[in-house]
Order: sequence, then structure tokens, then C-alpha cells
Amino acid sequence: MTKRIHHLMLGLAALLVLAGCGSAEPDRDLSPQAAVGREVALDKGCAACHGANGEGGVGPEWIGLAGSTVELEGGGAVVADAAYLRRSIVEPEAEIVAGMTVRMPVTELSASDVDALVAYIEELS
Ligand code: HEC
Repeated sequence: MTKRIHHLMLGLAALLVLAGCGSAEPDRDLSPQAAVGREVALDKGCAACHGANGEGGVGPEWIGLAGSTVELEGGGAVVADAAYLRRSIVEPEAEIVAGMTVRMPVTELSASDVDALVAYIEELS
């Protein structure tokens, strides 16, 4: 069941990417590592749910996320430090953001992909 939902969501993500959600140019200056992170986000389908420039979509906005307090499903809150961002990316089920109807799929990423993604999200403040 869970697997089927993941497939559906991946299909949806692919569709959104095909629909041209990703734009070629970032809308702000990024460090080299963060620019790589943005490319990874476009490449791996993250942008389909989180926006080509982190503006959000069916997934939460990344702009202003780093360092903010995130309300979690089931109560409680967490500060979005680097460890939280990393966990959210590698283990999406570990903490679920409150009020979300879509579940984030697990994506195969290299360690350097994850580092670049975290650097990118941290620059979107
Ligand atoms: C199918 C849509 C979808 C895709 C694709 C997706 N996400 Fe998410 N993401 C979500 C949703 C929905 C949440 C909120 C629920 C949760 O916490 O799991 C989320 C949560 C997050 C969070 C925590 C956000 C917060 O406000 O605390 C981060 C960071 C994140 N995603 C990064 C990524 C990265 C990086 C990728 C690509 C490797 C990715 N996501 C792919 C939907 C998606």
C-alpha cells in the first residue's frame, strides 16, 4: 500500500517536472556548493514538490526554513538545523511536518548530493 502511494507520488513528481516546473536560472546568488544543491534538487525531482527555487508546492517551502521552528505532526516542534535538514532528506518518515497531505518519498542520494542539498536549503533564508 505504502509502496503504491510512493509510486503514485513519483509519477506525480515526474509529471510536474515534465510540465516545466524547473526553471534554468536560480532567482538568487548561490555559493558553488548551493548551486550544485539546486541542480540536484531539479535532477532528483525534489523541485517538483519544493519548487524550482525552493518556493514550495505540495511540499513545504525551503525559503526561510533553515533555523526556523517547524511544527510536527502529532504535536511538538523542532528547530530546522543542519541535522534536521539532513534527516528530513535522508529519512523523510523520521519527522513529518504538521498539516501535510502528501508524503515525501525516499530518494537515493550520494553523501555529496545530501551535503549540497543542505547547503542550498541553508542559503535560502
Ligand atoms: C512527492 C513530493 C516530494 C518530493 C519529490 C520531495 N519532497 Fe521533501 N517533502 C515533501 C513533503 C510533503 C514534506 C513534508 C512532510 C514530511 O515532513 O515528510 C517534505 C519535507 C521536506 C523537508 C522538511 C521541510 C520542513 O519544512 O521541515 C525537507 C528538507 C525536504 N522535504 C527535502 C527534500 C529533498 C532534498 C528532496 C529531493 C531529494 C525532496 N524533499 C523530495 C514532499 C516531497
